[in-house]
Amino acid sequence: MQHKKLYIETYGCQMNFSDSEIVASIMAGDHYTMTEQAKDANVILINTCSIRDNAEQRVWKRLRELKSLKKKHSDVQIGVIGCMAERFKEAMLEMQPEVDFIAGPDAYRSLPELIAASTAGQQTANVMLSEEETYDDIQPVRLHSNGVSAFISIMRGCENFCAYCVVPFTRGKERSRNPQTILREATDLFNNGYREITLLGQNVNSYHWNQDDGTVIRFPQLISMVAAIDPLLRIRFTTSHPKDLSDDLIQAIAQHRNICRSIHLAVQSGSNRILQKMNRKYTREYYLERIHAIRTAIPDCAISTDIIAGFCDETEQDHQDTLSLMREVRFDYAFMFKYSERPDTIAAKKFDDNVPDEVKSRRLEEIIALQQELSLQSNKNDVGKVVEVLVEGNSRKSAAQIMGRDSRNKVVVFDSQELKTGDYADVRITRCTSATLIGDEL
Ligand code: SAH
Ligand code: SF4
Ligand code: F3S
Repeated sequence: MQHKKLYIETYGCQMNFSDSEIVASIMAGDHYTMTEQAKDANVILINTCSIRDNAEQRVWKRLRELKSLKKKHSDVQIGVIGCMAERFKEAMLEMQPEVDFIAGPDAYRSLPELIAASTAGQQTANVMLSEEETYDDIQPVRLHSNGVSAFISIMRGCENFCAYCVVPFTRGKERSRNPQTILREATDLFNNGYREITLLGQNVNSYHWNQDDGTVIRFPQLISMVAAIDPLLRIRFTTSHPKDLSDDLIQAIAQHRNICRSIHLAVQSGSNRILQKMNRKYTREYYLERIHAIRTAIPDCAISTDIIAGFCDETEQDHQDTLSLMREVRFDYAFMFKYSERPDTIAAKKFDDNVPDEVKSRRLEEIIALQQELSLQSNKNDVGKVVEVLVEGNSRKSAAQIMGRDSRNKVVVFDSQELKTGDYADVRITRCTSATLIGDEL
């Protein structure tokens, strides 16, 4: 049997990158091998993101580019998968006649049939969302892997319906994956030399699994079970919702040295008025209390966040509240965005996108500038400290330099001759930038 070639391009969040690895596995079962070159492929898959308008614009641009490739190689099949496929559904096939088939996030098992039908000349689509699909029996094909770090999806979907967010519409209902299959996947990765696993879900800490005996496994137990596989295996998780950041989870992290000292906790805004409008289900005070609980139990924990600038009705005072919250928490790192209205969300239906674009931009710039200061300060505080680094490979700048991360997910660069990818090293930090720690191996 001749092997056909598959090319996958992935946009969006880590869940999408993880899904591409599941897709590669499903396609391997249909005799496809991966290629890094779109022009060599029999099938091209674009795994797409709808989170902000600019994420979608990038994909439309890419699809226009692929149009010319399709003209040259008319037998190549192009499929759009992921969140845009789910959002646009069959309409995507009309808008983009070069697209041969589409599949939503819960429909990847049907890709071989969709491709067979499209090869026979028929445009096809499967955008059914599922309440059960977790792909738990599928062993992902690790793509673009450094051989050290891997993602494991442990839950899918989201039903929090934050007012601005498209994810509940593109990813469907929340569901958790069988813990036994998670443990098996993590153990296999460790036995194959992997040393860092990131447990993934849109609300990873809402994980819960009902066992046959009536007991429930929640996230703190699951992460403790994964951490028990081996002390040399580092565990990360993303992304957690503040409402489910329980004391039990904080305790579980504190008790296991190999659960990383790094919590990503999206705050979105520092203003109670805006948080309520966003339907985030917590207040500024609750968020700050959770940060305090983390810092008390895990003093060396890094805290990162997501922030949206210019949500509907955001005033100058609301914006100042966000800046003051950032100063109060002293985030180590942040992802910062300009609000982008998404069709069909609660905000699009009920509120006016009334903060002018130049105001959004200016507020975003202020948020970014402040975060830059906070990140630099956080790194400066590390100068003189010793951190444990998991080696990921050579640094981009020089082959004699090693790049890795410490438990807090900070990038550390240092000189070394002997170390291999996957080794641990103690490094004394001697200097820093706002993005990188630089040091000497002990
Ligand atoms: N489930 C995660 C967030 C996933 S989306 C969580 O709740 O933490 C990643 C980030 O994109 C969000 O945290 C938010 O900051 C941002 N985002 C989501 N929708 C957005 C929109 N419509 N405009 C701008 N940013 C948005
Ligand atoms: Fe979107 Fe909110 Fe769900 Fe995160 S929790 S994916 S922001 S709806
Ligand atoms: Fe984007 Fe979908 Fe992830 S909208 S952020 S790829 S869940």
